[in-house]
Amino acid sequence: MTKPNQPSANIQWGGRFSGGPADIMQEINASIGFDRKLWRQDVRGSLAHASMLAHVGVISAEDKVAIADGLAGIAAEIEAGTFAFTEALEDIHMNIEARLTDRIGEAGKRLHTARSRNDQVATDFRLWVRDAIDGLSAQITDVMLAMATRAAEFAAAPMPGFTHLQTAQPVTFGHHLLAYVEMLSRDRGRLADARARLNECPLGSAALAGTSFPIDRQMTASALGFDRPTANSLDAVSDRDFALEFLGAAAICAMHLSRFAEELVIWCSAPYRFVALSDAFTTGSSIMPQKRNPDAAELVRAKTGRITGSLVGLLTVMKGLPLAYAKDMQEDKEPVFDAAEALALCLAAIAGMARDLTPDLGRMAEFAGSGFATATDLADWLVRALKLPFREAHHVTGRLVARAEALGVDLAGLPLADMQAVEPRIDASVFAVLSVAASVGSRTSYGGTAPSNVAVQAARWLDALR
Ligand code: ARG
Repeated sequence: MTKPNQPSANIQWGGRFSGGPADIMQEINASIGFDRKLWRQDVRGSLAHASMLAHVGVISAEDKVAIADGLAGIAAEIEAGTFAFTEALEDIHMNIEARLTDRIGEAGKRLHTARSRNDQVATDFRLWVRDAIDGLSAQITDVMLAMATRAAEFAAAPMPGFTHLQTAQPVTFGHHLLAYVEMLSRDRGRLADARARLNECPLGSAALAGTSFPIDRQMTASALGFDRPTANSLDAVSDRDFALEFLGAAAICAMHLSRFAEELVIWCSAPYRFVALSDAFTTGSSIMPQKRNPDAAELVRAKTGRITGSLVGLLTVMKGLPLAYAKDMQEDKEPVFDAAEALALCLAAIAGMARDLTPDLGRMAEFAGSGFATATDLADWLVRALKLPFREAHHVTGRLVARAEALGVDLAGLPLADMQAVEPRIDASVFAVLSVAASVGSRTSYGGTAPSNVAVQAARWLDALR
């Protein structure tokens, strides 16, 4: 990035200025260091604007052709890495426009008719967020596919289901994975909702009040793939809801990924050993040779903090701004760029780990039955076989659990005589419901963990996702 030695008035707006900015003014004011990411959207927006201006007769057809050629040349320069971004030109909009005038002269100076950087940046940024939504949605689909594939594979594999991280009832590993598929499906839906609301074009709102030129906003809107132009110029240049909704959806999605990451960290730990990750998704320790650390999962968990921080940061930037545009809003981009990049990494890492992980099915099944996990099945049996009211059945089961605990056995190992000491009407048929397989197999209610259900749900998802 080049800095002129002699501060001179800005060539874009320097008419009433005789001097240049202080170094610190230039430094705090410039956004080119990060908003150059918007160059594709900026070129696209300018092409649409120039075509429209020519169409309505505000600029000539020759000027439009010169502008289009000039912008194509600039795009090639940026692509090739030969474009000289200048901090003195503040942002991507002025960098491109100044270069356009360098290249094509007079015609370049006509491009900024009937627009302002305020509607320009609002348009560019919407286009960028829209592209980010499309890319991230495709990545979410890939994670869902990875998880649904593993869910189909492990539809019948028992594992302990937890509440309070205490063994609660047996579930299947496939059922557990499909819970994340449901979450991710809502994440995709949230992004799609945000995209639909975002898809209005601010271009032509100009600085804040619209313009006196006879522009055709419908034309620019549809050229840029928007559904319609925005209806209020003040709102259009000062609205960043689309960025906030994107960040909100991203933060919720990241939170889901972080929960899975946390489970991976727990499952990979030595006391659990429910799953193993391969060399591809673990690192070693420089001092402890035995270690295999789930760093990727930990970083997904950590990056979620950044993404949430981006949401809170931008909400805080926006909350005190009077209408319409204020320079504060230039601070909208970095959190969005950072969150999008972090979420893309997290999604890729989770997809990779979902495909990579190897569950220890024996260990999962063993623990699925520990901690009196089938106590609810026993209570349900007392309701069904002995017609006890559930509350009473719960109480009786609690006493049976206490007895088993005192004898150091699980429920299936509790002798019938001990059971009958608590409730004389219990007979041997009770043992049929106390196994893990019987427990999960019995949970056939819609949405329940029975392997037959899980297989159907996994197949449904795979069908929908492929
Ligand atoms: N770089 C600015 C931004 O990102 C562009 C808009 C500047 N508008 C202005 N009136 N100074 O917000």
